[in-house]
Amino acid sequence: MATSNANTKPRDTWGSKLGFVMAAAGSAVGLGNIWKFPYTAGESGGGAFVAIYLIFVIFIGFSVMLTEFAVGRKTGLSAVGAFKSTDRRWTFVGVIGVISGLLIMGFYPVVGGWSLAYIQKIATGLLDTPEAIGGSFGAFISDPVQPLLWMALYLVLNIVIVIKGISGGIEKAGKILMPLLFIILIIVSIRGLMLPGSIEGLKFLFNPDFSKVDSSVILAALGQAFFSLSLGMGCMITYGSYLKKKENLVQTTAMVTAMDTSVAILAGVAMFPAMFAFGMEPTAGPGLVFGVVPQLFAEMGGMVGLLLALLFFVGLSVAALTSSVSLLEVVVSYLIDEKGMKRTTAVLLSAVVMALLCIIASLSLGGVGPTLFDVGAFDIFDLLTDKIFLAVGGMLVCIFAGWRLNREDLKKEITNDGDVSFPLFNLWYNLVKYVIPFAIAIVAIAGVKGGFDAGKGEIMVLGLVMIAVTALFSKKL
Ligand code: PFF
Repeated sequence: MATSNANTKPRDTWGSKLGFVMAAAGSAVGLGNIWKFPYTAGESGGGAFVAIYLIFVIFIGFSVMLTEFAVGRKTGLSAVGAFKSTDRRWTFVGVIGVISGLLIMGFYPVVGGWSLAYIQKIATGLLDTPEAIGGSFGAFISDPVQPLLWMALYLVLNIVIVIKGISGGIEKAGKILMPLLFIILIIVSIRGLMLPGSIEGLKFLFNPDFSKVDSSVILAALGQAFFSLSLGMGCMITYGSYLKKKENLVQTTAMVTAMDTSVAILAGVAMFPAMFAFGMEPTAGPGLVFGVVPQLFAEMGGMVGLLLALLFFVGLSVAALTSSVSLLEVVVSYLIDEKGMKRTTAVLLSAVVMALLCIIASLSLGGVGPTLFDVGAFDIFDLLTDKIFLAVGGMLVCIFAGWRLNREDLKKEITNDGDVSFPLFNLWYNLVKYVIPFAIAIVAIAGVKGGFDAGKGEIMVLGLVMIAVTALFSKKL
């Protein structure tokens, strides 16, 4: 992807439509789909969570992504500039996106580091002792040093890619490895489904039991939809700004959404049947994929098992990289475009802040370091971002498009001046203007209230306060 300063040079555009779809899908498909989706579904009761998630993806995720692409292409600017150029009072929405990017990068590289570490662990014999696989994850992440080294390596990879502007290279790797990862997920699913007792896993995933649903589950599903689709923080606005005028925005949005969602569902099908067959708990938490996948390939045995396990974690690491590079880019392009920094300075400065956040996040998993209202840093960053920052960010993007932008201009942008037919325009517009902001507000308020029962409401309120303070000081940004 081209990453030049948008204000001064004519904007580069994507070479081909598929190139754009793959790049946007590269941002969307990542740890969110393969690591976060299965364990969140597991912790949130399974089928009902999945059903609500799918409803949110179709009605909210799709609409918000189309909005972000349209705003990005219309203004030709990345997140902050897109809002600022229209109306300075809206600058804060872009800035909230930048803060979200920083906070997500406060834990994403920790998990990216785990994925890299598992490549090495598998290559050096992890699969030889299947009975030790489950326990080894807990020991690994609570070690004070090991995960930090892997996190540092992961962050350095991001820094090099973003400084050199070689995201084109990583996208090429993604074009090969992502389909490969998809195929491996299919193999894992088939293997898992062949195990005795696995059918229970499918039932868990697809047989909704709505009695398990409370406001926290609904907010978790909303947050998961935003996180997985890379929405609510201006990332897709930036991608849209590089999109050619003749491309079909609706079709592109549909393709990216469909790809992202199918990977998430497939990851669920790959995990739960095997988990139930192995007698593991669906509430295994963040260690789920690191327990199930090696276990499954260890049972498969031989060179093939080893090779597939290796490829899985190589693929996962690359999928994670193509996402975190897009996160880092949101922060970096803000510093370049708005603060006049050089690219290298901007990348290094952001990376230092991210590294510090990641160190605190990683240590918190071993019970080391500060807590806030009894919640450790890793969980704080996770809670603040998808459940609060991204959801509120998505709501504000919709309010911006629906109430600040002009309906006819949006129609022209989305239909390419009438060349593309979009019969659902009115539905989309009304969703964006009225329904989605209202729906997000209700889900977020109820979710924060429910969060108090789980001892997490205070952190969410803190997130809302942070957003309000950012809005108040937006003139200075
Ligand atoms: N969508 C990415 C994932 O599922 O891993 C995470 C992400 C990337 C979120 C970029 C937000 C974003 F702007």
